[in-house]
Amino acid sequence: MINLNYKNADANVVGNENGLNIQQEFANYKNQIADIITNLNQRKDKPGQWLQWMNLGYNEETLWYVKEFASMVKGKFENVLVLGIGGSALGGIAVTEALLKPYWNLLSEEQREGNPRIFFLDNIDPDSINSMLSFLDLKKTIVNVITKSGSTAETMSQFMIVKNKLEQDLGEDYRSHIVATTDKKTGILRQIAEQEGYKTFVVPDDVGGRFSVFSAVGLLPFALVGIDVDQLINGIKDMDLALKNTDINENIAAQNALIHYLMDTKKGKNLSVMMPYSSRLKYVSDWYVQLWAESLGKEKNKNGDVVHAGPTPIKALGATDQHSQIQLYNEGPNDKVINFIRVKDYDTTLEIPKIFEYTGIGYLGGKTINTLINAEADSTRVALSDYNRPTITITIDKVNGYNIAQLLYMLEVQTAIAGELYNINTFNQPGVEQAKNYTYALMGRAGYEESAQALKDKMAAAV
Ligand code: PA5
Repeated sequence: MINLNYKNADANVVGNENGLNIQQEFANYKNQIADIITNLNQRKDKPGQWLQWMNLGYNEETLWYVKEFASMVKGKFENVLVLGIGGSALGGIAVTEALLKPYWNLLSEEQREGNPRIFFLDNIDPDSINSMLSFLDLKKTIVNVITKSGSTAETMSQFMIVKNKLEQDLGEDYRSHIVATTDKKTGILRQIAEQEGYKTFVVPDDVGGRFSVFSAVGLLPFALVGIDVDQLINGIKDMDLALKNTDINENIAAQNALIHYLMDTKKGKNLSVMMPYSSRLKYVSDWYVQLWAESLGKEKNKNGDVVHAGPTPIKALGATDQHSQIQLYNEGPNDKVINFIRVKDYDTTLEIPKIFEYTGIGYLGGKTINTLINAEADSTRVALSDYNRPTITITIDKVNGYNIAQLLYMLEVQTAIAGELYNINTFNQPGVEQAKNYTYALMGRAGYEESAQALKDKMAAAV
């Protein structure tokens, strides 16, 4: 299970100027939080609310189809190649990095217990795409193209390149190497998939990209590489149950949402750092950054007032970034809430050999790296509190499917509750659309001629 420790964000520890009187605030917001949780759970089944991600733990049908397909193709492919961007990729990367053995793609087939390697192309850098396609044997690769809208330029351009190469390498059989995950009815990818006869999975209605990791978007690639998807689903079901509790004193997602909201609005701490002390969780930070940024960064609130809301998320990795960012966090502007993620038990216990005892590093010998990394997490947290910097510590027992699913789902609910506190629409992203439209215009997409002209004028003015 997951534990949330907010003591070091309390005024008792970091002082009145930088900390909150947390128990008092929980009492002040008790009713509002209860209303928010009740309301989210009431709205979640209504179309157009974008809250279907709260039901993903109960989607037995998708789970069955995903497992069925994964078992059907087991042993047929050496590689899984995922094409997608943003919410269609970040959850997949976060969970596979956390749950597969580190350096998975470099391990032998035996070490991977017969499961395929997995690659994510989540950018359109020509050099990296070219390099990947030059080493990946497409004859032994299953390609999962994921886009909810079915038209994202980055994903679809990758797909067009990969599809062409698949066809060249495989001839007519190329179709059996493509699985499309997209909207059930609409979008260009859906149309292509039907015309071409690809196997398809659905991004459910009312599940936005950044909340889609436990839909087929994530579950399919996870099952293809042998991750136990039942464990993930059990994790989110149990967490969902726990987070239905409307009492803020019992609801860790509500607690962290409120603390972040108040730190931003009352204490001017509008930066939220996510710093796991585990390399396997490094990409959980990337996923969190997108979730928090795209959900909470909004120009207007629900009443239409201009608010420019949203704390800025920052990714960090312990202990690595102690040697990069912590100087700033200790002594720079006191404008951050730092979230540590601690792992109680790592899979491995690694002893540091008792050598060089006669030198200044002799004290390390005989201890474990495990003790060292947790000692570093503790000392960094305490040092930050010495500088009156608020921190939150999330602890998980182990990095396993159940706990990772719980963690991610908890952060999703936390984001939804924070969105309600800010009174903004958590589930849209109007600020992304403008640049998307400009790109379509620059690339000559029909219907975007007006944007193309506006863009040309602006670019000329900037020069
Ligand atoms: O969270 C979101 O909604 C976005 O980040 C999308 O996932 C991203 O823009 C990709 O969109 P699509 O899945 O339609 O290709």
